[in-house]
Amino acid sequence: MTVLNTSAIRTDFPALRRTENGIPVAWFDGPGGSQVPQSVIAAISGFLTRGGSNHGGAFTASRDSESTHEEARSAVADLFGVRDDDYVHFGMNMTSLNFSLSRALAADWGPGDEVVVTRLDHDANISPWLRVAADTGATVRWVPFNTSTYRLDLDRLAEAVGPRTRVVAVTHASNAIGTIVDVAGATRIAHDAGALIVVDAVHYAPHGLIDMAAVDCDFLVASAYKFFGPHIGAMAGRGQLFEKLDAYRVRPAPATGPGKWETGTQSFEALAGVTAAVDHIANLSDEDGGRREQIVAAMAAVKEHAVHLGRRFLDGLPEPVTVFGITDDLTARTPTFAIEMEGFSARRLATELADRGIYVTDGDYYAMEVMSSLDRADGGLVRIGFLHYTADEEVDRLLEALHELAGNA
Ligand SMILES: Cc1ncc(COP(=O)(O)O)c(C=O)c1O
Repeated sequence: MTVLNTSAIRTDFPALRRTENGIPVAWFDGPGGSQVPQSVIAAISGFLTRGGSNHGGAFTASRDSESTHEEARSAVADLFGVRDDDYVHFGMNMTSLNFSLSRALAADWGPGDEVVVTRLDHDANISPWLRVAADTGATVRWVPFNTSTYRLDLDRLAEAVGPRTRVVAVTHASNAIGTIVDVAGATRIAHDAGALIVVDAVHYAPHGLIDMAAVDCDFLVASAYKFFGPHIGAMAGRGQLFEKLDAYRVRPAPATGPGKWETGTQSFEALAGVTAAVDHIANLSDEDGGRREQIVAAMAAVKEHAVHLGRRFLDGLPEPVTVFGITDDLTARTPTFAIEMEGFSARRLATELADRGIYVTDGDYYAMEVMSSLDRADGGLVRIGFLHYTADEEVDRLLEALHELAGNA
């Protein structure tokens, strides 16, 4: 069984050696973006150092870019656990990919059609659907999450889905409060009603195993900068559906295949980094076998580490801190904790922690529906995120700072 060696992992991440005023930085802002290992930096700079060319040339450097692109598709296919007929394509980020997907899916919608969104989602999986609904006259159905249990109840989702539902848009996990959603259950509900489902795996990707083949969702979107890679988005989904849909593309671009969805020239250096990021995850595993099998083993170990850190964190919190999220079953959430401390605004707490070299996020992190549901639209909450490179000592340092601040409130 693979067990993470956090100190060995940490030596691979140069940014973890960053200091501020002589104090080592503790990075708890992973839900906003992870740091990258040396192998990713080397892959990106290696591509640029060797010299990159655009696709379609009669020379080796051009063919190298094509193979860099194909390697990244196959790396993401392994990370997502795709089906044989799925396509993987890339774009600037998840938000841009979802806007283009929603626009294509809604091309034949009209009044009476419905789209289902949840209040647990990041706005990147809400606003694209609000926009196409406004453009086509379709109706938006909202699914709340339970603000006492912090879970997304599938019964509530089932109530919102009906015979006119065209798309269910749901997150794999909340980037604000960490709740993991039963996306396989959500997919069954969508498919039973004849609807498609779009899963936002941006937050979930560094924390748990994505398994499109098992979940059977139609589309899934993620961003490499959350899973130790560069700033680039990836989308996977049923090839047949992508073929049927009308992509907004320029005439000379491929009319078929995943390339049909990739507008303009891709960031080949970032694609080289994507493959290295997926390999980094696979290499966390001690297992023999193919990359997908290694990813499966690695993610199980990542999850163990997350539960361990989450327990350490929750057990050590000072009294005036309130956690907004699941605390009774740490396997049902990612190690992303939204908190509030009596006497502190979210910004003041984040600033005090930053002064101590501790990086956390504050505000709504674009999960504005989560914050309104929790009655925290004004100022939001402080978000603390752990990743596989988070060390016990960093969690202890954070807890000490919170205790010290609680004493000064
Ligand atoms: C859950 C979730 N979905 C979507 C996004 C948007 O991703 P991108 O920045 O790649 O557009 C984020 C970014 O924080 C996120 O956390």
